[in-house]
Amino acid sequence: MDHIRIRGGNSLNGDIRIGGAKNAALPLMAASLLTDAPLTLSNLPHLADITTLANLLVQHGVDIHMEGDHEGRSLTLSAKNITSTTAPYDLVRKMRATALVLGPLVARFGQARVSLPGGCAIGARPIDLHIKGLQDLGAEIELEGGYVNAKTSGRLRGKEIVFPFVSVGATENLMMAASLAEGETRLVNAAREPEVIDLANCLVAMGAQIDGIGTDTLIIQGVEQLGGAHHRVIADRIEAGTYAMAVAVAGGAVRLTGANLDNLGAVAEVLRSAGLSIENGVVENGAAGGQEFISVQRENGRLIGVDVMTDPYPGFPTDLQAQFMAMMTTVNGASMVTETIFENRFMHVPELTRMGASITLHGGSAMIRGVPRLTGAPVMATDLRASVSLVLAGLAADGDTIVNRVYHLDRGYERVEEKLAACGAEIERIKGG
Ligand code: UD1
Repeated sequence: MDHIRIRGGNSLNGDIRIGGAKNAALPLMAASLLTDAPLTLSNLPHLADITTLANLLVQHGVDIHMEGDHEGRSLTLSAKNITSTTAPYDLVRKMRATALVLGPLVARFGQARVSLPGGCAIGARPIDLHIKGLQDLGAEIELEGGYVNAKTSGRLRGKEIVFPFVSVGATENLMMAASLAEGETRLVNAAREPEVIDLANCLVAMGAQIDGIGTDTLIIQGVEQLGGAHHRVIADRIEAGTYAMAVAVAGGAVRLTGANLDNLGAVAEVLRSAGLSIENGVVENGAAGGQEFISVQRENGRLIGVDVMTDPYPGFPTDLQAQFMAMMTTVNGASMVTETIFENRFMHVPELTRMGASITLHGGSAMIRGVPRLTGAPVMATDLRASVSLVLAGLAADGDTIVNRVYHLDRGYERVEEKLAACGAEIERIKGG
């Protein structure tokens, strides 16, 4: 298993390219199951989670053609000849987002057998809202042997579905299913995350009829069939936020190219309150048009503590909570970080504490008292976002930090060590061992 070694103390200066959003790419890939025409997705990141879903889709019979390199890949997915509507446990257990094939499979083929994803490190994360919503649309569902068996005779039927709380995945799964249902579906208390909007825009390009995109009520008039489309995946707001926080931790001035603040919701304001300078910018490229970027800069001096509560978009994202906590460990003053989306998303706390952070946990809240410096230590990555928070902490720590179990990082961050090293960080991947 690979490790990442960081020697802290260098500031970050230069450009970092922000890739396509993993959490937009995954539902978009699942949407290819809704049509027999090819769907081409560009600006896809090169990540383990994308490979996991691609493997599952291939197993269903989807033909996938890949082009491009690290600067944004493009995939053409053709679900003309589906050979299996079963998503087996050994593929689903690797990543919960595989449950996104459920809605499209039932809607187009009238049947699906999808393994339940099970728990994961950051909480129980059931898919009961996905299942209940499909039942509301007329699917018959049985749970048997760890699998969800769903079937319907004829098309699904549109209905009003009121979510008891906001779920990104359930909104996406049901929006896809409703696109091919008979009649109108209203999804009330729907997620408004930029990734949900990106999926909705792609579905519309495929011929779906969706109103209320970007609001908490999506109104979908089902159509009999959808066609192909070309769609460019939006920039990864979580990757952009993570590198902005890396600059906050290490100091320096970085341009995050290919991204803008419009999708970051509450994040920019929180970072400004902590003392970071963060703005949108555009490089004029003559005939080629402008290249957008976010410019992030930390002047000399310590940042100040800011309180944060995670919330569905446009609130502060739970996927940036661990990174934000790493940033708060060395501020002037204190910060209260409250996690409201997942019940067990503080596994980075003991690791940060091993590096000298002062953090007290109380239920869903963490009180972080800023210390002047962290000290490097061997630490263990426990999940995707927790692992990058340890990399961030290592950037400003005295001495060496070794982050173990880097495979978590590879699920969602493309070449993190190369991107940071290009801006002056002393960081390297140690293969194997
Ligand atoms: C997505 C993101 C993930 C992010 C999360 C919250 C993807 C691939 N992943 O995950 O990175 O952290 O949104 O922004 O886009 N819940 C239920 N029953 C359900 C569905 C969800 O109880 O049927 C609960 C979950 O356990 C969690 C909360 O609802 O506590 C929100 O989860 P949800 O928004 O569904 O997250 P995901 O779509 O899995």
